[in-house]
Amino acid sequence: MIWSSGWRLASAVSNAGGLGLIGSGSMYPEVLKEHIIKCKAATNKPFGVNLPLLYPNIEEHIQIIIAQKVPIVFTSAGNPKAFTSLLKQHGIIVVHVISSSKFAKKSEEAGCDAVVAEGFEAGGHNGREETTTFVLVPAVCNAVAIPVIAAGGIATGRQMLSAMVLGAEGVQIGSRFVASDEASSHENFKKAVIDTNEGDTILSLKQLTPVRLIKNKFYGEVQQAEAKLATSEELKILLGKGRAKKGMFEGDLEEGELEIGQVATLIKTIMPATAIVEEIWTDFEAALIYPLK
Ligand SMILES: Cc1cc2nc3c(=O)[nH]c(=O)nc-3n(C[C@H](O)[C@H](O)[C@H](O)COP(=O)(O)O)c2cc1C
Repeated sequence: MIWSSGWRLASAVSNAGGLGLIGSGSMYPEVLKEHIIKCKAATNKPFGVNLPLLYPNIEEHIQIIIAQKVPIVFTSAGNPKAFTSLLKQHGIIVVHVISSSKFAKKSEEAGCDAVVAEGFEAGGHNGREETTTFVLVPAVCNAVAIPVIAAGGIATGRQMLSAMVLGAEGVQIGSRFVASDEASSHENFKKAVIDTNEGDTILSLKQLTPVRLIKNKFYGEVQQAEAKLATSEELKILLGKGRAKKGMFEGDLEEGELEIGQVATLIKTIMPATAIVEEIWTDFEAALIYPLK
C-alpha cells in the first residue's frame, strides 16, 4: 500500500506468519532498494513487493527487484502481459490484482501464478465495474484454474473464512494494516481510519483512475467539479500532484487524498501488526465450524 507499507510493516506481517508486501508505488527506485534491504534484515520469512504498473520508474523498480532477488511480486493497475514473463524468467512468483473475470483470465494467460480478486469495497485504486468481493470471488474462481486470493472488505477472521468458503485460497488485507503501529501512514490518517463509519468512503475519480477514499474537503471539490461535468483534464488539474502523500503520509485530512476501504468501519484500534494477524487467526479458527481441507 502506497505511503503505508514500508519495510517495517512488511517484515512485521511476514514475521507474524502472513506475507508482507512492500508498497513500491510511492517509492523512488533508491528508496525501494533501501526498503528491500531493510526488510531482508528484519525477517528471514518470505516477503514480496507490490508493483502498481501505472506509476513511473517501473523498469528501474523491476531491475532492483531482480537484483535483490525478491521472491514474490504482486503487480496491479495495468496489463499482466507487460512484465510477468520477465519476472518469471528470474524465478519470481507473480500475482496480478484484478477486478473482473476478464482480467483474471488475461492474467492466467500471461502466466501469472495467482490472482488477487479485489472487490468494490477495497481501499485504494479499484475497478470501474463496482463488482463486490462477494460476487467477484466466486466468479473469478469459476473463470480461472490458478489460485484466487480475495481482497476488499476483509479485516476479521470471519470475513477471511467467508472468502475461503467462496473459493479463495487466501486473502489480501489492506485497510486493517493501515491502522497498525508499523504502517508508515501519518497518525492523523490512522486516527481518521478508526473514526470512519459506514458511508464515509466512496469510489471517486472514476473518470481518471477510480479510487476509494474518505469523503473529505478534497473529495467535496471533486464532487462539485464532477457535478459541473468537469473534463478529465480539469479533474487532473484539481487532483494535482502529491495528493495521496499529502493525506496519507503528511496527515492533511482536508486537502489530501485518504485511501481506505469500506471495512474501516469495523476497525476500532491501532494495533501492532503481529497482534492484528493473531487476532484475525484466532477469530478465523473460532468461526471454523467445519474443518477445512
Ligand atoms: C492506503 C492504501 C494504499 C493502497 N495502495 C495500493 C498499491 O499501491 N497497490 C495495490 O495494488 N493496492 C493498493 N491498495 C489496495 C490493497 O493492496 C488491498 O488490495 C486492499 O486494501 C484490500 O481491500 P481492504 O482495504 O478492504 O482490505 C491500497 C489500499 C490502501 C488502503
